[in-house]
Amino acid sequence: MKIFEVYNLWNIEPVKGKGCRIWDKEGTEYLDLYGGHAVISIGHCHPTYTKMLKEQLDNLGFYSNAVQNHLQTELAENLGKMCGYEDYSLFLCNSGAEANENALKLASFHTGRKKVMAMKKAFHGRTSGAVEATDNPAIQSGFNRNGNVHFVPMNDIEAAEKELAKKEYSALIIEGIQGVAGIYVPDKKYLQALRKACTETGTVLIIDEIQSGYGRSGKFFAHQHTGIKGDIITVAKGIGNGFPMGGVLISPAFKAIKGMLGTTFGGNHLACTAALAVLKVMKDERLIENAASTGKYLLDNLKGNKAIKDLRGIGLMIGVELRDEYLDLRNRLLFEKHIFTGGAGKNVIRLLPPLCLKKSDADIFLEAFNDLTK
Ligand SMILES: Cc1ncc(COP(=O)(O)O)c(C=O)c1O
Repeated sequence: MKIFEVYNLWNIEPVKGKGCRIWDKEGTEYLDLYGGHAVISIGHCHPTYTKMLKEQLDNLGFYSNAVQNHLQTELAENLGKMCGYEDYSLFLCNSGAEANENALKLASFHTGRKKVMAMKKAFHGRTSGAVEATDNPAIQSGFNRNGNVHFVPMNDIEAAEKELAKKEYSALIIEGIQGVAGIYVPDKKYLQALRKACTETGTVLIIDEIQSGYGRSGKFFAHQHTGIKGDIITVAKGIGNGFPMGGVLISPAFKAIKGMLGTTFGGNHLACTAALAVLKVMKDERLIENAASTGKYLLDNLKGNKAIKDLRGIGLMIGVELRDEYLDLRNRLLFEKHIFTGGAGKNVIRLLPPLCLKKSDADIFLEAFNDLTK
């Protein structure tokens, strides 16, 4: 058997990681400003994380959701405290798409409606409902196009309000910061007005914090820069620092009914241990504060570079839109300077490093960027 080849691969094989560094099998060292697609939150192979996971593996690797699991309740408590949603409940699953799938389902159960409003350029994952709410027909199959999702331009409040007033929508789903689109931060006033319109029309506000959450923006959730609250918040990526995991944070207005949601692997012992380790390290090492300050440092020092057409983002979620002459910059950073970055479209470099990125690491990137664009 061979692998079903759906990915464009670089010819590099990382075999070791530490903090913000990875090494390939030839021993070449790379600075990681991509974090394996915003997944590595506390840094590669953090000693607290590996110790806790090894110990858990020696005790019990897995048991199903048919038994008590104190790790789940501990995680829900710790997460609630750290993110400021203490009175919400947590449903655990295995990926970002699955978190959104469950959120959309829950909203429909709750409201009895089935339509969903999503943003143009949105990305919410590749499972059935999540991909239907993703504004990219190239990754939807006929099976996914059920006509349940209406896309509106982000930051156009009139377009959203007009549709929501029909009171036909079960949910409005929006990313805390649009990631795959190329890092677009929703306007503060827009999010505040959406919150109001959702409340007035009985629409569930789902905030997808899968990429922008878990401290990346310099607050636990990106939408917390605007003072609003979601009815449902979805998380994944950074929650497990590489251990596959997703979560749905659910407002107390929702009533849990036995059997309404479920999964075999969600909330298993290893996943919860990984997530507990992530929260512990984030707190002990003040990684959210670090994301805010190192992110600002990067943004301040990138400003004014002649290769940059537009600079967007907050914290350690930064989009560098390049002028056409610099389209090969991402590859040059990787192959000439050994710096991994993310991409979006043809001309956006996405910086999504581990949240422990130091100013000295940021300087290495800035020096490389300036050198390649001088
Ligand atoms: C905002 C957002 N939502 C959902 C997803 C899907 O997550 P997963 O790939 O874990 O299913 C992603 C992945 O990139 C994402 O960025």
